[in-house]
Amino acid sequence: MSENTYVMAIDQGTTSSRAIIFDHAGQIVSTGQLEHEQIFPRAGWVEHDPMEIWRNVRQAVAQAFAASTPDLTSKDLAAVGITNQRETAVVWDKTTGEPVYNAIVWQDTRTQAIVDELAGDEGADRYKDVCGLPLATYFTGPKVTWILDNVEGAREKAEKGDLLMGTTDSWVLWNMTGGPDGGVHVTDVTNASRTMLMDLRTLEWDESICADMRIPMSMLPRIASSSEEYAEGREQGLLAGVPIAGILGDQQAATFGQACFEKGMAKNTYGTGCFVLMNTGTEIVKSENGLLTTVCYKIGDADTVYALEGSIAVAGSLVQWLRDNLGLIKSAEEVETLAKGVDDNGGTYFVPAFSGLFAPHWRSDARGALVGMTRFVNKGHIARATIEATAYQTREVIDAMNADSGVDLTELKVDGGMTANELLMQFQADQLGVPVVRPQIAETTALGAAYAAGIAVGVWSGEQDVIDNWAEGRRWEPAEGDDERERQYRNWKKAVTKTLDWVD
Ligand code: G3P
Repeated sequence: MSENTYVMAIDQGTTSSRAIIFDHAGQIVSTGQLEHEQIFPRAGWVEHDPMEIWRNVRQAVAQAFAASTPDLTSKDLAAVGITNQRETAVVWDKTTGEPVYNAIVWQDTRTQAIVDELAGDEGADRYKDVCGLPLATYFTGPKVTWILDNVEGAREKAEKGDLLMGTTDSWVLWNMTGGPDGGVHVTDVTNASRTMLMDLRTLEWDESICADMRIPMSMLPRIASSSEEYAEGREQGLLAGVPIAGILGDQQAATFGQACFEKGMAKNTYGTGCFVLMNTGTEIVKSENGLLTTVCYKIGDADTVYALEGSIAVAGSLVQWLRDNLGLIKSAEEVETLAKGVDDNGGTYFVPAFSGLFAPHWRSDARGALVGMTRFVNKGHIARATIEATAYQTREVIDAMNADSGVDLTELKVDGGMTANELLMQFQADQLGVPVVRPQIAETTALGAAYAAGIAVGVWSGEQDVIDNWAEGRRWEPAEGDDERERQYRNWKKAVTKTLDWVD
């Protein structure tokens, strides 16, 4: 048991890398954050520079220490936890530490041909019984196949055992623990469950799927639990000697930080995308309605807890798109002000199928559509349709969850940046017809990773401490009549049909 009670979480997200120090009550002491470049080399391609990510992580750690009161250093930390954007694939040379290609991001759709070929006559659900996921461009395995097929010399090097692969948790951990000089190559069960390469039942890599995807198994990290001491920070680093003791994919970390420990409890995180996870206990529940089966968490030697997940590719990133690609707003917050200037969506519906449609549709051939336009429509209506899109997409996956579990959700726990948008939260409660509840600490992703790490070293004794620290911050009650909400939702569904079959 450590005498220190501060825990740092590193959150390597899609748009930025952050370091947050938490105290024993789960309160934020200080934060560091740096955004990284989003690289779009072609339509449908999305990349990150892994070296920039690693630089930013180090800088964010330094910022968090510098901003802390009292003035904290690595000596005051009991542990560090890592949480991360999931699925994004990094392949690097273990002798030089250099990535062989940019990270291929989860939103990237370039692997469509690989995915179609793997589906062959058996269809997209070919591996679903083993890994819980349909074949889709979203997941890691085929992204690694693409790198090995397309980067000169990569396949030979991989076959010689010189290359490693990982999601960004593994990339960051390997570098934090020394890189080419003794770096530890590990991932946790939640991240491994997003690669398509892990068997959900055994929690081991599946040799035959790896063979089908032509991924040498020597590239793969060791799969560990989400809460145990993996290694210590490298000697020359800012976290020298601190146990790195928690790893969770960001959506699973948020589920943990939201204290969704009972079967049937669910949360929705509103970030770049939107991800609803429902705890299904130790049971592996197969979805009949387009949801994913995934690992929720595994604390040390305790039983594995699973989840059903509804993944929505585009939520906050649609607001960024209005800002960066259209210049319709100057800051993300402005979308709410603009939307509040009109009474309703003016008949417009915006389906942001920029990476195809994820849950519950899984249509990679879909592309975005803004429908219902008339001369009456102005910027405010488009801002409103942008906000509403997130709520309708969430309703689609909650409906699927209710159908899969046979029990209707009674309230939705929410977190993430977009929960600051009051209009969205009220509209979400209206669309779902159940209350939407935000905790006092909305940074539940980082908090969940801190808890996982802190539990491993004894800062917190277990789930009960997480439950005790969780406190309701704000609640939105549904206020819309059934007829109106159903009318809006019918229109949304019609709009979704307009996005299909866009890719030959
Ligand atoms: O599956 C992708 C997800 O993990 C990314 O989350 O918060 O970085 O958009 P976020």
